Amino acid sequence: MKDNYIIGIIGAGNMGEALIRGLLRSQLVRSYEIIASARRRSRLVRLEKTYGIHTTRSNKEVMNSTDTVILAVKPQNMDDLLKEIRSFANNGHLMISIAAGVDVKKLRRGLGSKPKLIRVMPNLPAVVDQGVSAIFCGPRIQERYRRFAHQIFQAVGTTVDVREERLMDVITGLSGTGPAYIFAMMEAMTAAGKKLGLTPKLANALTQQTVYGAAELASQGEDPKELRLRVTSKKGTTWAAMKVFKQKKFWNLVSDAIGAATKRSRQLRRLRD
Ligand SMILES: NC(=O)c1ccc[n+]([C@@H]2O[C@H](COP(=O)([O-])OP(=O)(O)OC[C@H]3O[C@@H](n4cnc5c(N)ncnc54)[C@H](OP(=O)(O)O)[C@@H]3O)[C@@H](O)[C@H]2O)c1
Repeated sequence: MKDNYIIGIIGAGNMGEALIRGLLRSQLVRSYEIIASARRRSRLVRLEKTYGIHTTRSNKEVMNSTDTVILAVKPQNMDDLLKEIRSFANNGHLMISIAAGVDVKKLRRGLGSKPKLIRVMPNLPAVVDQGVSAIFCGPRIQERYRRFAHQIFQAVGTTVDVREERLMDVITGLSGTGPAYIFAMMEAMTAAGKKLGLTPKLANALTQQTVYGAAELASQGEDPKELRLRVTSKKGTTWAAMKVFKQKKFWNLVSDAIGAATKRSRQLRRLRD
């Protein structure tokens, strides 16, 4: 067992940094218990200065000084990385990959039979501790490792368990890609407000707080459909707007978009296989 550091992060970019920040804020680990790597020295210097963690350009150092390693490089960099670290991976390692479209089969092939593997699909709001991370553990993963993975990702939001790996493509299409759907909706709302005479600043402020407030309200547990129906009085303003949503098949549009993202996730996974 290696106890120099509690958590290692290989590929400390946007997501890796969000995890570092969240882990420190949640006090799950202390700064001297994190080791992180990236390629650019300037990035590592900044991470050290900002968070007081240890950084290195050597992935071998990360592998050899901690048992829990989060792989946070881009999917297209994963092949090279797996080749590079394979010989350092041993029975004591818990390797957690957050790379989109890189499945456990590929990780297993790349890292060999020794390490324990967990796959996670986080999403962008993790950078403000409001992410949702879907966690897939293979059948042989012991409960304590599953719980540890949840603890790590709870530092940047909420977590859910996924029992079947094939659902990770759907999750990529729904929550992994999801923030962009909301951004597109916000973009469209702001543009409409401007077109109808609001200043850009006002349209933006109204849109932002409306989305934030609606999300907060829906997060109290009530069905969004119920909430929508409650504010839709016959011949009222919401009714007029929803009539257009129905005519233009808004629900089909969203469903098709999520379907397309899911399909693309599957395609990319097969291409990377
Ligand atoms: N961003 C999202 O919304 C999101 C959502 C779900 C899942 N993910 C997954 O999260 C992962 C990271 O995404 P990201 O947005 O954080 O990407 P990113 O900002 O580009 O971070 C990737 C980091 O990996 C480093 N890197 C590349 N090759 C390396 C190597 N061989 N050894 C060590 N470090 C290496 C890069 O270092 P340099 O910068 O120094 O080159 C960079 O800092 C991706 O696999 C993505 O699929 C992201």
